[in-house]
Amino acid sequence: MTTPAAHAAAQYVGSDRLKARMALHEFSTNPQGWFGWLGERLEPRGDVLEVGAGTGKLWGEVSAGGARLTLTDASDAMCEELRRVPGAVVRRADAERLPFADASFDLVIANHMLYHLDDPSVALAEFARVLRPGGRLVAALNGREHLAELLDLGPAVGRPDLLRGMVLNDLVTETAEALVAEHFTDVAVEDFPDDLRVPTAEPVLAYLDSLTSGPLDPAQQAATREQVQAKIDADGYFFVRKSVGLVTASR
Ligand SMILES: C[S@@+](CC[C@H](N)C(=O)[O-])C[C@H]1O[C@@H](n2cnc3c(N)ncnc32)[C@H](O)[C@@H]1O
Repeated sequence: MTTPAAHAAAQYVGSDRLKARMALHEFSTNPQGWFGWLGERLEPRGDVLEVGAGTGKLWGEVSAGGARLTLTDASDAMCEELRRVPGAVVRRADAERLPFADASFDLVIANHMLYHLDDPSVALAEFARVLRPGGRLVAALNGREHLAELLDLGPAVGRPDLLRGMVLNDLVTETAEALVAEHFTDVAVEDFPDDLRVPTAEPVLAYLDSLTSGPLDPAQQAATREQVQAKIDADGYFFVRKSVGLVTASR
């Protein structure tokens, strides 16, 4: 059986799948958008480390102020993208084995990445190790109901692997507080208020295709399009609930 880490390694060999999935969030009902909302809560200062930084989109939307940025990702392709972030130091690194000295950062950011790890507790211990006393952790996670309507489509069109192929560990917003509190103090979880209203079927199909190395066949595509279009005809959009939360904690 595929582990979360093995699945993530295959998913992020290139950056195209992540970009296809991010595109769906153009249809968010929250006009502020995730990165703007997150930016208001980051308070970057001193030495800032982002782990699993992906394409570096956060830093295109949020100013680091005067902070010194170090960006890491396990994927070579993502590190290539991260090298475009002005002024940032980029290191290819596994979140479970960070190549940094103890107490070398004031803020560690883990934005939508902890659920990809086989054992997130190992990474949380690493985050605590590299943070200075009084330093902060800011981590984004999803809740159990995140994208439920989208994820229910796979089994409904004969592709249960699409959902089960999204192999993740069981760290979700609902379980985060207890696990993070094993390594940090002052743990808080704040919900990001948002949902998706997708006006056409195509972005939904693109999202589902991005989840798997076996894209939908023509019959599965037609079945998906039919189900999504029926909702659009009835409601004006295909509704997808989002459940995203921000975990903050102190070292
Ligand atoms: C869902 S993407 C999020 C990217 C970025 N933080 C964002 O929000 O746009 C997850 C990222 O975590 C990275 N990742 C997965 N496992 C990792 C690990 N063990 N160590 C470091 N990065 C990892 C992936 O390569 C990918 O770029």
